[in-house]
Amino acid sequence: MGFFKCVFLILSFLLVDPVPSFADSYSVSSKGFSEVSASFLNFAKKKEVFDWIVGVRRKIHENPELGYEEFETSKLIRAELDEMGIPYKHPIAVTGVVGFIGSGKAPFVALRADMDALPMQEMVEWEHKSKVPGKMHACGHDGHVAMLLGAAKILHEYRELLQGTVLLVFQPAEEGGGGAKKMIDAGILENVEAIFGLHISHDLPIGEVASRAGPILAGSGFFEAVISGKGGHAAIPQHSIDPILAASNVIVSLQHLVSREADPLDSQVITVAKFQGGGAFNVIPDSVTIGGTFRAFSKETFAQLRQRIEEVIIGQATVQRCNATVDFLDKEKPFFPATINDKGLHEHFRKVAGDMLGIRNVKEMQPLMGSEDFSFYQEVIPGYFFFLGMMDETKGKLASVHSPFFKINEDALPYGAALHASLATGYFLELLQKTTLLSGKQHDEM
Ligand SMILES: *[C@@H]1O[C@H](CO)[C@@H](O)[C@H](O)[C@H]1NC(C)=O
Ligand SMILES: [Zn+2]
Ligand SMILES: [Zn+2]
Repeated sequence: MGFFKCVFLILSFLLVDPVPSFADSYSVSSKGFSEVSASFLNFAKKKEVFDWIVGVRRKIHENPELGYEEFETSKLIRAELDEMGIPYKHPIAVTGVVGFIGSGKAPFVALRADMDALPMQEMVEWEHKSKVPGKMHACGHDGHVAMLLGAAKILHEYRELLQGTVLLVFQPAEEGGGGAKKMIDAGILENVEAIFGLHISHDLPIGEVASRAGPILAGSGFFEAVISGKGGHAAIPQHSIDPILAASNVIVSLQHLVSREADPLDSQVITVAKFQGGGAFNVIPDSVTIGGTFRAFSKETFAQLRQRIEEVIIGQATVQRCNATVDFLDKEKPFFPATINDKGLHEHFRKVAGDMLGIRNVKEMQPLMGSEDFSFYQEVIPGYFFFLGMMDETKGKLASVHSPFFKINEDALPYGAALHASLATGYFLELLQKTTLLSGKQHDEM
């Protein structure tokens, strides 16, 4: 109430006074806006809203679904959007959903959550443990969906404030499937000016966020190679061509790419994580399959690594009298570009998150070699990705993402919901402020 009046005042101030000095309008609106974002956070923390967000998260956690199979998750999202009276498009990229809140007109800003789980067995014993053997929400995407629905609830509650349209993007298949790319191919970014995404973080304190301008996560690719020799009796090696030894040499040679060919200041990783071959103590097998991942930040470095991985595998196999084929699996697992945050949106984020959490709780972070398919959106429009803290030392250490012991501190969920909502709402307000200033100036000059 007081809060609506306050925002109304800011807006009317901007509209009535065509040439406010920049400093004045900035301070007034940022003071006003910190009240807005504080209201968002308080709303998300209200018992009934918090319980509802947590309930959604637990329901999704109990029924984890892998990439492009998020049918029940998608259904649950749509049921909640229906309940709130928020229109949406579906299906996009098999299970994807895009909801719309606001004026229905430009500017358009997108908020994104990923929906998929991982093919692993949950080891946490609790009431809402995964009910599907071998599948688990171990990356927190259940929380991401719940937070975006929480943002939907906030934005819907305060919809009179929205000077534009927010797209709620629920995408499938982040874990290697490139769901973001399929959403883009379906045209969801048309006319969208900016997109925001977040990931919960187990080692960042609750109430803090972290990010940076520029590269924050690496580009990522996968490879698999079959190294073929000639099987035979393990005691008569001269009659065989041993693919196990050849594969071992291949793996050692691959290590030299980063240690000897890469610029030490240009971070890169090659990891061979898969080695399959042989089944008996006394038989040399016909072939061995190895596989792994490679990471780099720049497109050039990434392309160079890809080429050298292929050359080294084939060349080193040949030295060992074996043949090798290399597959980069880019049909099923498209290469992820590096996640690169827009500089302007970084400033916007610092302002919005700083208003809500206090600027000391908005941390600058070093880039990580992990990757995110959020980067696909950033190749098309300015985008911003950040980490949301959930560590609470009084509750003990949390396991990292992709661990079977991964747990979410649900107290972090209102923060994510409120930040999503504030980033979009604040974006519209800032834009309005800029256009008002601009039109004021133009008027002056004429
Ligand atoms: C490698 O490929 C060549 C050409 O196809 C073939 O003659 C040779 O037998 C293969 N060697 C092995 C170890 O598979
Ligand atoms: Zn993950
Ligand atoms: Zn994730």
